[in-house]
Amino acid sequence: MIRDITALQELDRKKDEFLSVASHELRTPLTTIKGYTQLLTQGVEDLPAEDRATYLNAVLSEIDRMMGLITELLDVSRIETNRLQIEPQPIRWLEFLKRRATAFRVQNPARKINFEANLEETMLVVDPDRMRQVIDNLLSNAIKYSPDSTEILIRAAIHDGCMLTTVIDEGIGIPSDEIPRLFERFHRARNVSSRYYGGLGLGLYIAKAIVEAHSGTIWVQSVEGKGATFTIRLPMP
Ligand SMILES: Nc1ncnc2c1ncn2[C@@H]1O[C@H](COP(=O)(O)OP(=O)(O)OP(=O)(O)O)[C@@H](O)[C@H]1O
Ligand SMILES: [Mg+2]
Repeated sequence: MIRDITALQELDRKKDEFLSVASHELRTPLTTIKGYTQLLTQGVEDLPAEDRATYLNAVLSEIDRMMGLITELLDVSRIETNRLQIEPQPIRWLEFLKRRATAFRVQNPARKINFEANLEETMLVVDPDRMRQVIDNLLSNAIKYSPDSTEILIRAAIHDGCMLTTVIDEGIGIPSDEIPRLFERFHRARNVSSRYYGGLGLGLYIAKAIVEAHSGTIWVQSVEGKGATFTIRLPMP
């Protein structure tokens, strides 16, 4: 009973913190959008075309960020009310992973993002949009929580008749006692300061719900300061 109350208080505290972080995260892009839009409205004619393009691109990328945050919030509400739906279809899994790696290389040209798979192309029956969300969250976490100079590796392998997909980074890692709580909503490990690393603590919670909706599992292995390895296991048809 007492433990239940403590758990509720803890969830309540996390929700309060979440509200403040979420408002801040939604406000920050708006501030940038407002600033650039003001610049663009003041004497657009005098502004060199190059500057105009830079400002517009900044506005677009802030809008993308806001849309991503709002999608996360909507997904959480879908999960909580059991409305997360998946539409599985056959997908060439290796090609799918390679595409995600390429997309992240384009967005992060300074990062080394490698893909490794010693197996033939394999079909999985998954919801491609939802799986993209899972892989993209693991890749964006790997990028966010590791220094630019380090490598990120995506690996695919078959084990016990299941497809294992692993995302490995050489970043800040996770304190061992935080690992059991990492996939809870709003949970962010204590070695992550929200001032330095943006985020709502929802990506892994959503990823877990999506993987489980595919009858799969997701887990992490990590030593604090020595990087993290996230693995998803998906059944093969
Ligand atoms: N690759 C990683 N290395 C170290 N810590 C990680 C890594 N991935 C996740 N974490 C830890 O797990 C927490 C939860 O991750 P999650 O993706 O759910 O949230 P987030 O990245 O903080 O925010 P967002 O909702 O934008 O994804 C992070 O705050 C961080 O503490
Ligand atoms: Mg994340």
